[in-house]
Amino acid sequence: MGLCWLILLLATSSATYALDNGLLRTPPMGWMAWERFRCNVDCTNDPKHCISENLFRDMADRLSEDGWRELGYEYIMIDDCWTSMQRDKDGRLQPDPKRFPGGIASLARYVHDRGLKLGIYADMGFQTCMGYPGTNLSTIHMDAHTFASWGVDFLKFDGCFSSPVEQQLGYPLMSKALNSTGRPIAYSCSWPCYRGGLPPKVNYTLLGEICNVWRNWYDVQDSWDSIQSILDWFSNNQDDLQPAAGPGHWNDPDMLIIGNFGLSIDQSRAQMAVWAIMAAPLIMSNDLRSLEADARAVLSNKLAIAINQDPLGIQGRRILQEGSHVDVYWRPLSHKASALVFLSRRQDMPYRYRTSLVKLNYPAGNYEAYDVFSGKLVTGLKTTTPFTVTINPSGVFMWYVYPTSYNDKPKSHSRYRLIHKKYNLSFSESGVGPHRVL
Ligand code: GLA
Repeated sequence: MGLCWLILLLATSSATYALDNGLLRTPPMGWMAWERFRCNVDCTNDPKHCISENLFRDMADRLSEDGWRELGYEYIMIDDCWTSMQRDKDGRLQPDPKRFPGGIASLARYVHDRGLKLGIYADMGFQTCMGYPGTNLSTIHMDAHTFASWGVDFLKFDGCFSSPVEQQLGYPLMSKALNSTGRPIAYSCSWPCYRGGLPPKVNYTLLGEICNVWRNWYDVQDSWDSIQSILDWFSNNQDDLQPAAGPGHWNDPDMLIIGNFGLSIDQSRAQMAVWAIMAAPLIMSNDLRSLEADARAVLSNKLAIAINQDPLGIQGRRILQEGSHVDVYWRPLSHKASALVFLSRRQDMPYRYRTSLVKLNYPAGNYEAYDVFSGKLVTGLKTTTPFTVTINPSGVFMWYVYPTSYNDKPKSHSRYRLIHKKYNLSFSESGVGPHRVL
C-alpha cells in the first residue's frame, strides 16, 4: 500500500468521521423497491412495475393514503437502476431521463408533500451491482451534495465492484460528505455484506460511529428458506451483532417480503415477529397497490411495530433452541416489559410447547401478557405458572409481557389498560391457569 493510501487510511479514523446526525433513533420504517421490483426498466411493456418516478409516486400515494404513514412507515426508497448510464456533463449522477422525466428533486417534493421522506441508492465502487454508474473516491463529495440538493433524506450505499481498501476509505468519507451537506440524511452502509459480516473483518464499533444502519449479510429473496437462512445467520452470530445495535445505529437483515408470493400467513407473521425482536428496519418491498388484507394486517400490527420501535433500542436475542425445533426469542423493552417469540421450525402440525416464565429466566413476580397476533390478554401469570402455547409449523406465537405491580388487584389497575390506550388495541381476555392451553 502506497504512502498516500496510508495517509488517507489514517485520516479516516472513527474519531474524525463520527456521524452524529441525530437520525434513526428507532429503526427506519418504509418501503423499498428492490426485492419486489428489482431492475425492471422495461417501462414500454411493463409501465406499472418498472423502476420509474411513477412507481415511487404510486407508492408514496399508498403510504400516505392507506394509513401506513401514521403507523410509522415514512421512507420511500429508490434502489438500483434509477440512473442514466452516463453521468451528466459536469460529472454528476443523473436519473434516467425517460423513466424519471421530472427528475429526483421533483419526486422528493412529491414525497415530502405527503409527509414522507425519500431514500436513494448509490454504490461505493466502479459500478452498481446492476452495472449503472458507481461512486468512486473522487465523486463521493459531489454525489452527497447532489443528493442533498435534490432533497434526499436517506442514502443506501452499496458496495459492488469495490476493493476492501476502497471500502475502508469510501464508507467513512461518504459519512463525512453527507454531514458536510448540512442536510440530515440517514446513511445505510452495505459495507459489512462485502466483508463477510463478522469481526475481525467488520468493525462494528466504527460502523456505529459512521452509519445509521448497515446491511450485514446476503439479500433477502421471496421465500421462507431465505428468511430462515437470514434468521439463522443473525442468531448464530448474535454475540457479535446484537451489541452493535442501538438508537441511531442498527443491523439490517434486509427487507420485509410480506405481501409477495413466497410466504404463507404464518411465515409472514414469523418475519414480522422476528424482525421486531431484532430491532430490524421495517422496510417493506411489496406492491402496496394490490396487497391482500391478511398481509396488510400483519404489516399493520401496532404492537409488533411498537415492539420494533421500542425507544430503549436494545436488539433481542435467540435465548433457546429446543430439540423439539422450537426457537425462543426475547427482547427487553422499556417500562420493564419484554417481547417473547416462540418460532416453530417444524414441518408437521401445530406444536404445543410447554414452558413457564421462570424457565425463560424471568425474575420472580406477577405478569400479564398480550398476544400480539390474536389480541388476547393473559392475566394472572406468575413466573412459575406453566403454560402451553400452540405454534403452527413455520409460524410464531408472540407475547408482549409486562410485570403487574398490583398483585391480584382489580384489572382497572393493570398496565394493559395503558397499553390498550396507547396503541389503540382491541383485545379479549383469558385467564391463565396451570397447564392452560392458549
Ligand atoms: C445488492 C444489494 C441489494 C440491492 C441490489 C441492487 O445486491 O444487497 O439490496 O440493492 O444490490 O443491485
